Amino acid sequence: MSVVIETVVTTLDESGEPNFAAMGVVWGAETLTIRPFTNTRTYRNLTRTGEAVINVTDNVLIFAKSALSRERFDCTPAARVRGVVLRDTCYWREVSVKEVVLPRGDAPGAGQADVVTQVVGGGEVRQFDGLCRAKHAVVEASILASRLRFLPRDEILGELIRLDALVEKTGGPEEREAMEFIRAHVAKKTSIGRLVRGGER
Ligand SMILES: Cc1cc2nc3c(=O)[nH]c(=O)nc-3n(C[C@H](O)[C@H](O)[C@H](O)COP(=O)(O)O)c2cc1C
Repeated sequence: MSVVIETVVTTLDESGEPNFAAMGVVWGAETLTIRPFTNTRTYRNLTRTGEAVINVTDNVLIFAKSALSRERFDCTPAARVRGVVLRDTCYWREVSVKEVVLPRGDAPGAGQADVVTQVVGGGEVRQFDGLCRAKHAVVEASILASRLRFLPRDEILGELIRLDALVEKTGGPEEREAMEFIRAHVAKKTSIGRLVRGGER
């Protein structure tokens, strides 16, 4: 059975600048499959350069920001591919693209490609201890916020409010900052002045 691990994929753009994007990756010892929508920068960079670094981190602010903004994060050069390793990663894999399977029958950009990659390097900085409930909630909220354009808006907003309350109850400063970033993003994208929690005015 294949497991999907939520990661931050780094690729290089046309001018060699690093791009950071949260992506679920089908995990294996030698083969990792990245599943980018074909309208993402990650897809374009992967198909052009044939290389990437897959970072596994517990820093959920990086998940939120790499899904919803173009912010650059601290990084160091990769050893086996042209690319960068996220400084705040727990461990990482450097990969080379073996095969790209395009989505079938969809309009351009509407589907996810399977980008099958070979592990050519990697390393570990610190142990990954797993995600607590609040960190999980931030990752879920980031995914939902990144799908505002193609999922029913009310459904997303309802779910975001539930996750926000969970972070408020169980999260620390890092998770609250990430959730605040997500709330501001959603408010901007939906033209809602401010996403307000129950009881807040
Ligand atoms: C945890 C998580 C997992 C995600 N997985 C994927 C994925 O597998 N494929 C994808 O295209 N987008 C995924 N996204 C959304 C992308 O991060 C988002 O669309 C991002 O803007 C793409 O950035 P890029 O255009 O710089 O590549 C995920 C977001 C989160 C928070």
